[in-house]
Amino acid sequence: MKGVILAGGLATRLRPLTAVTNKHLLPVYNKPMIYYPLEMMKRVGMKEVLLITSGGHVGDFANLLLSGEEFGLRLYYAIQQNPTGGIADGLKLAEEFAQKEPILVILGDNIFNFDLTASIKRFEDTIAKDKKGAMVFGVHRETLAQQYGVIEMDAGGKVISIEEKPEKPKSDIAQTGIYVYDNRAFDFVRKLIPSARGQLEVTDLNNMYLAEKSLLCELIDWWVDAGTSHDELLQANVQVAEFVKQGKL
Ligand code: DAU
Repeated sequence: MKGVILAGGLATRLRPLTAVTNKHLLPVYNKPMIYYPLEMMKRVGMKEVLLITSGGHVGDFANLLLSGEEFGLRLYYAIQQNPTGGIADGLKLAEEFAQKEPILVILGDNIFNFDLTASIKRFEDTIAKDKKGAMVFGVHRETLAQQYGVIEMDAGGKVISIEEKPEKPKSDIAQTGIYVYDNRAFDFVRKLIPSARGQLEVTDLNNMYLAEKSLLCELIDWWVDAGTSHDELLQANVQVAEFVKQGKL
């Protein structure tokens, strides 16, 4: 399995903090935001990670992260020509890198302390049996405020629907930015059409797996999306500082 981190976008919601830099380089407590998903890649045993970002800031990432040696992995860089083409558009750039292996995708502004190892083992067992599959990760949220994809599950933990930023959420489970895909993801992405906001949506990709009943979902208990608003970024800083001091991160 190969790792892919998405760190493009324009982060207009975080202006002026992002006027001259990329949001994933902003500090979250004692490290740049991008360190958190990278450390999770390392923790789960990824050896090679592709970092996808926009042309304007790829040099800053390379200056900061170099070859990835500090993280114990080999880093590769790719430029998403249209920085707001959507998460699934960015994923297209990982096809050659993946070399027909499954991919673990983490969005660069996602911070969590859940060890993904057991989940990835379950994914791999499913792939060995069914030859296909994808996995998404959900988290309970008190308010969903149209910020996230929303996962509706039945009592047995099976996904019923995933909707991107619905006006009326069908559950309190937010879709996090952690995804595992078999190699057919690249074929699925080619079939996607842009959403109303002009992006190739990761939720549409996940719904293709849901339609063929090969989508797995796991729940995690602590997760922040540090890149959505100034308040989320502030909250991420406070929570991460607490977790680091308590040895939980
Ligand atoms: O964080 C979880 C949420 O991420 C999910 O609940 C949603 O279902 C999913 O669509 C996504 O929501 P956002 O619309 O808020 O994503 P955002 O635009 O903040 O981008 C998420 C990350 O992906 C961010 O680190 C930047 C990167 N990105 C985004 C776009 C649009 C790219 O690398 N390229 C892109 O074209």
